[in-house]
Amino acid sequence: MRATFGVGLLGLGTVGSAVARAMTTRTKRLEAMAGRPLRLVAAAARDPKKQRDAGGVTVTQDVFAILDDPDVHVVVEVIGGTSPARDLQLAAFERGKHVVTANKELVAKEWKALHEAARLAKRELRFEAAVAAAVPVIAATRQLAASRPRVVRGLLNGTTTFICSQLDRGRSFDEALAEAIRLGYAEADPTADVDGYDSAYKLSILISLLEGRHFHPDDVRRTSLRGTTLADVESARARGVTIRYLATADFGEKATRARVGPEEVALDSLEGQAAGTTNVVRFETDLAGTLVFSGPGAGGDATASAILGDVIAIARSAR
Ligand SMILES: NC(=O)c1ccc[n+]([C@@H]2O[C@H](COP(=O)([O-])OP(=O)(O)OC[C@H]3O[C@@H](n4cnc5c(N)ncnc54)[C@H](OP(=O)(O)O)[C@@H]3O)[C@@H](O)[C@H]2O)c1
Repeated sequence: MRATFGVGLLGLGTVGSAVARAMTTRTKRLEAMAGRPLRLVAAAARDPKKQRDAGGVTVTQDVFAILDDPDVHVVVEVIGGTSPARDLQLAAFERGKHVVTANKELVAKEWKALHEAARLAKRELRFEAAVAAAVPVIAATRQLAASRPRVVRGLLNGTTTFICSQLDRGRSFDEALAEAIRLGYAEADPTADVDGYDSAYKLSILISLLEGRHFHPDDVRRTSLRGTTLADVESARARGVTIRYLATADFGEKATRARVGPEEVALDSLEGQAAGTTNVVRFETDLAGTLVFSGPGAGGDATASAILGDVIAIARSAR
C-alpha cells in the first residue's frame, strides 16, 4: 500500500463540514479509489469552539498549523472570498502542498496568480467544486480541449433559479427573495447571487478553461434579477416561455461575449423546469456537438463530492 495522503481543511462551514463527514464515514471507498489511505489531519475555522457536525475532526484557529504540517499534502480551501483565501492558497503552494478549492470568486479573479504559483511549485490546483458543485463540468471542459466552443449557456446559480421558480408560482420578487433567505438558499445579503456576481465568476472560469487564457469576471455583462417582476413572468408564461437567470458565452470569430441575466427559456426545457439548486450547463462545440449536463449545483454533500473527487485524483497521481 502506498503512503498515507494527508488532507488539511481551511474552513469548516457548510462545505468543509460535509467534506469532514464524508472523509470519516467513507474511509474505505476513498482509500480504494485513491489507491492509498487518505487522512483528514485537521481543519481550521474562525471559532474552534463552535458546535459542528464534522465527524470529530481536530479543529484549530491557526491556519498555519495546517499549512506548516508535514503530514498535510493537500490543502482544501473552503473559506470563500478573496481575503485571506488568496494568501492562504499561495502560502500552501509555497510550502509544496497541492490545493483543492470550491472558491469560485478567488479562482475567477486570481486565475493567473494561482495557476502561476501552482506551476512554480510543481503542484496541482483543482477546483471542480467551484462551478456547478457535483456536476463535473470542469472535467468535461478540460476534456473538450480539442473542440472549438460555440456557445456555453446554462443555469449556474441555485438562488436565482429558486427565485424564478417562485415567480412561476405567482410570488413577487420580494416574497421569493425572502423565502430564499428563509430556506437558506440565499445569504442575508443576496447581492452575489441576485446581482449576478456568482454566475459571472462561474462563467468566467468555464470560458478561461475553454479558451486556455484568463477571461476576467469583470468582462461578463451582468444584469440583476431584481428588475424582474411577476408581470414579466406571467406575460412570458402566456407565450409558452418563462424566465430563468442564464449565464451565456458566445464564442465569436473575433471576440467572446459573456453575459448573465434574466432571459426567456421554453417552459418545458430543462432550464424552464429547474426549481432549486439544479444547475444546467449546455456546451455547443464544433467537434463534439452539443452536450448537456445537469445536477445538484450547491449544498454541502454535492460540493464535497466534487472536492473529494479532486483530492482522490491528486492522491492517485502524487508520489
Ligand atoms: N455552500 C455551498 O453550497 C457551496 C457550493 C459550491 C461552492 N461553495 C463555495 O465553498 C466555499 C465555502 O462555502 P460555505 O458555504 O461552506 O461557507 P461557510 O459555511 O460560510 O463556511 C466558511 C468557513 O470558513 C471559516 N473561516 C472564515 N474565515 C476564516 C479565517 N480567516 N480563517 C479560518 N477559517 C475561516 C468559517 O469559520 P467558522 O465556522 O468558525 O465561522 C467557516 O467554517 C465558498 O467559496 C463557496 O463559494 C459553496
